[in-house]
Amino acid sequence: MLKEDSLKDKVIVITGGGTGLGKAMGKYFVELGADLIIASRKMDVLEATAKELSESYDRNVLPVQCDVTDYSSVENLLKTSVDKFGRVDVLLNNAAGNFISPTERLSHRAFDIIINIVLKGTYNCTLAFGKHWIKEKQKATVLNIVTTYAFTGSAYVVPSAAAKAGVLALTRSLAVEWAKYGIRFNAIAPGPFPTKGAWDRLLPGDMKDKFDLAKKVPLKRVGEHQELANLAAYLVSDFSAYINGEVITIDGGEWLKGAGQFNMLEMVPEEMWDIIEQTVRKTKGS
Ligand code: HXC
Ligand code: NAP
Repeated sequence: MLKEDSLKDKVIVITGGGTGLGKAMGKYFVELGADLIIASRKMDVLEATAKELSESYDRNVLPVQCDVTDYSSVENLLKTSVDKFGRVDVLLNNAAGNFISPTERLSHRAFDIIINIVLKGTYNCTLAFGKHWIKEKQKATVLNIVTTYAFTGSAYVVPSAAAKAGVLALTRSLAVEWAKYGIRFNAIAPGPFPTKGAWDRLLPGDMKDKFDLAKKVPLKRVGEHQELANLAAYLVSDFSAYINGEVITIDGGEWLKGAGQFNMLEMVPEEMWDIIEQTVRKTKGS
């Protein structure tokens, strides 16, 4: 979507950058000229992705083992990135944990693990990188990946919904507070974009076939990874320099379809509308 070299020489850290949507966004960033640091817990996965991306696009892709729930691990990520590239321009908080479960079945540790990865992981990274940027008087951009149920809430993924809502509040709060330091904050709320990580935990086994998420989307399809990458690249690029504190939904209209009170009327067959119209018209003057 963006022209060649739109992200030239930007240094971008992506948490959870070895798999799924993090990998897809990273791939497009290097294609547009960025250098990358990809960080998560599984070093073998990160190394394979780093090799694939750096060979394809002749840019630097540095894999760094990091558990975002651990502040000292995040500080190590910052130090390793700055030692290698001299600076970091963009932090993309993408790492997440999630699984479906009735909430009453969760142990407090199960609740903790999701909140710790999603909300604590995001504030750990934001705080460590933010303090560094403020000290160095460096302009920067933070992009946070949330979900549409950050605004609506969702049954059966309650720790994730609570954590993503917290990430959205953090995004909007710091967009105002740290604007004076030249640090921009935005978020993306994706709808369904099939990835192994998400689908194995949210639609396990034959649930994939029983619950076709494409059917919930007015556009009747799930998202393509490149569509998300296009939006992310724009939001971390200088073309979006005046966008701050925004959350952009990319879901084919899915959450609005669930919200509109009469949206279910799409199930009414075309031929029934004549009868319905006549019935309603008969109420005139009553
Ligand atoms: C109930 C569960 C559980 C399950 C784990 N636990 N899975 N409880 N149902 N299915 C409990 C464990 O019993 C334990 O509690 C606690 O949670 C911690 O589990 P661990 O396995 O020790 O944790 P860990 O190895 O750190 O793994 C974290 C994880 C795992 C979140 C459970 O799934 C993971 O690593 N996920 C990372 C990737 C991911 O989730 N990607 C999907 C993002 S999708 P006890 O009490 O027994 O000690 C996404 C999409 C949103 O966010 C929107 C989609 C449309
Ligand atoms: P994914 O491939 O499972 O990505 C999650 C990533 O987070 C993994 O790379 C994982 O790597 C990393 N991670 C988990 N715990 C971590 C920790 N403690 N420290 C560091 N990294 C950790 O799933 P995805 O679908 O691409 O999700 C990416 C983002 O999009 C998430 O924020 C998710 O909530 C969001 N999202 C996805 C969808 C969708 O439809 N796919 C929809 C809405 C929002 P390790 O296991 O190596 O640590």
